[in-house]
Amino acid sequence: MLGRVARLHGTPCYAYDLARLRRQIGLLKSHLPPDVEVLYSLKANPSPAVCRLLAAEGFGADVVSVGELSLALGTGFTGRRILAGGPYKPTEMLARLAALPGALLSLDSVSEAEELSRCGLPLRVILRLRPDFPSSAVMGLGPGSRFGIAFEDLPRCHEILRTGSLTLAGFHVFAGSQTLDPAAVVRHLRQSLDLSLRAADRLGCEPEVLDLGGGFGVPYTARDQELPLELIGEELGSLCDRAAPGRIVLELGRYLVAQAGWYLTRVVAHQALPGRSAVVVDGGTHQRADLCGLNLRARGVPPVVLPPRPGLPLEPTDVLGCLCLSEDVLAEASPLPALARGDVLAFPNAGAYGLSASPFLFLGHPSPAEVAFEDGEIELLQAPGASTMNVAELAGAAGAPPAWKELWP
Ligand SMILES: Cc1ncc(COP(=O)(O)O)c(C=O)c1O
Repeated sequence: MLGRVARLHGTPCYAYDLARLRRQIGLLKSHLPPDVEVLYSLKANPSPAVCRLLAAEGFGADVVSVGELSLALGTGFTGRRILAGGPYKPTEMLARLAALPGALLSLDSVSEAEELSRCGLPLRVILRLRPDFPSSAVMGLGPGSRFGIAFEDLPRCHEILRTGSLTLAGFHVFAGSQTLDPAAVVRHLRQSLDLSLRAADRLGCEPEVLDLGGGFGVPYTARDQELPLELIGEELGSLCDRAAPGRIVLELGRYLVAQAGWYLTRVVAHQALPGRSAVVVDGGTHQRADLCGLNLRARGVPPVVLPPRPGLPLEPTDVLGCLCLSEDVLAEASPLPALARGDVLAFPNAGAYGLSASPFLFLGHPSPAEVAFEDGEIELLQAPGASTMNVAELAGAAGAPPAWKELWP
């Protein structure tokens, strides 16, 4: 299927395997207590095909911009299952949220509470609490985090809420992203609930919503293990009892989509480096923010070679991106067979924080295509973009065949 995607839509290209996404959905549904509500964090992958599937499967949406809010509503997420977060909510976002009965807004600071209470809109809010415990996530948010309200500022915040049009519906804690140690996930969830219940006690309120974040991690390297959801589901069962009558909410992005994504590139050149093999491909780190954020170039699972080369000896090979930057390396000493110009390298685990999180305008290369596939069907989500510096198009040469067609007839 990946070979067909590359032939039809060229490279570089992101391809999302919807059957793989359904597998993650199935795992969550079979292991988490039914009372736990899961929101999809659109920031992880805002592709419409991904959003539509998750909305149809009954997930809510965690959004942080007007764009994400529009996308969530346009792809079928119900208004009353939307949570708007982030440190800044523009006026348009507030107005649209106020018109969605049941939607929630996460307040990030006392200053934001002051501002929103002045705007007079009838908004249901949850208070984002700054974790008072250390985080074990790879991208950790602990007591030093720039997000959320410090415990000692809660009474001031409550005072503001009492005098305005905002209704306090509960609390929100997010301790970080990519937590792969199950004991650490359990600890984060438990400590987030502890903190939320202490906050409720301090303010003398009974929270209806307790958003404990999540940050469930995925295995990016051959040594990583899948997160054992049985253990986490069990813990959540007892946390639900403690939270009642409040309901527990989780917001998950990476766990759902990372393993459903492939990033396809094509070998365009060999590079002679002292003592090792290296190829240059037509993609690069400007389209793979996730790789850099996790420092995966030396540890990530090697790419799949298309067409396959079974039985050929493997040698450590660097996969260099197409940027004129030394750091633009997609894989370092990856065990690969001898590669030819035109071969496709398909990188796994590329479904989260990929294209939408990347500085892909850098150097004027066109943006990659995005497709989704399932049951033998391929849906083109986004055609490859024209470069922001497309001089050929300005000169009237827009009809020229894309370069990949010459490499793979
Ligand atoms: C507040 C908040 N919620 C949810 C997420 C999604 O996290 P993940 O993709 O690890 O599930 C993030 C990611 O940074 C976040 O900052």
